[in-house]
Amino acid sequence: MRFEDRVVIVTGGGSGLGRILAHSFAAEGAAVVVADIARGRAGAVAEEIFDAGGDSLAQTTDVTDASDVRAMVEATREAFGQVDILVNNAAKATDEDFLSLGGETWDEDVTVTLKGTFLCSQTVLVDMVENGSGVILNISSVNALGYYGNEAYSAAKAGILNLTRSLAVRYGPAGIRVNAIAPGTLRTPAWEQRREKNSDVFERLRRWYPLGRVGEPEDVVGAALFLASDEAAWITGAVLPVDGGLTAGNMLMMEEMIKGQGEQS
Ligand SMILES: NC(=O)c1ccc[n+]([C@@H]2O[C@H](COP(=O)([O-])OP(=O)(O)OC[C@H]3O[C@@H](n4cnc5c(N)ncnc54)[C@H](O)[C@@H]3O)[C@@H](O)[C@H]2O)c1
Repeated sequence: MRFEDRVVIVTGGGSGLGRILAHSFAAEGAAVVVADIARGRAGAVAEEIFDAGGDSLAQTTDVTDASDVRAMVEATREAFGQVDILVNNAAKATDEDFLSLGGETWDEDVTVTLKGTFLCSQTVLVDMVENGSGVILNISSVNALGYYGNEAYSAAKAGILNLTRSLAVRYGPAGIRVNAIAPGTLRTPAWEQRREKNSDVFERLRRWYPLGRVGEPEDVVGAALFLASDEAAWITGAVLPVDGGLTAGNMLMMEEMIKGQGEQS
């Protein structure tokens, strides 16, 4: 078990990708703190982990609130002694046209996504520096790498990539590794509203993915656990797309380019 005796905090752990990551770390021996702004969700996931024989603690935490974040880290220390791994997974994306996007909405998306990552990282780093070890794994997005809508969220996700590199360089000498994953479309509850409006959205999106489908949260687990584990002991400051090939190129564009070539020649 790769994470025996390790303590992991997963923010936004009550749903979607965070829930699956919390389960996966626990299944590999970690004690997992499931931190979520939604109390019921964090509690439900912690209970699922217990039922599966794992060790877990639920925390109601708003990652944008410094005192909540401090309380989350203190509760982790009290329950399990230390924090070895932080997964910054909580984020917020609001679907709104750019020209009518309000400043408040911009602030909310950027605050949850980027400031939350800053606050949680800063708070765990104090202990990690003292211990001389630790891992931070940031969940970014393909939205950090190009334009896929949600301007505020995307700007924040791009900010996370710079923060990943900054912290990797700055705290590498202290024995701390910081990496990021940039997932493509994942079939999670975050898509519920879009699916209500457009029930075949995943079917339509699959055409853009070289691997022929959108992702499941489980598709991110291998990369996340690898980067958090000792197997990645010499990897820091890296950004790993886990995106079914989406950002590798554009197949539909290529097909448009070669259309009709057969008839001409
Ligand atoms: N679903 C996708 O297509 C996709 C694609 C790329 C990246 N991601 C990233 O994966 C991560 C997880 O997304 P998901 O699709 O599982 O979303 P989700 O909506 O299923 O889960 C997000 C969780 O974060 C919690 N949360 C929201 N605001 C919070 C706050 N202020 N403090 C603490 N918790 C808060 C929510 O309560 C929820 O439980 C996010 O970082 C997201 O940007 C998702």
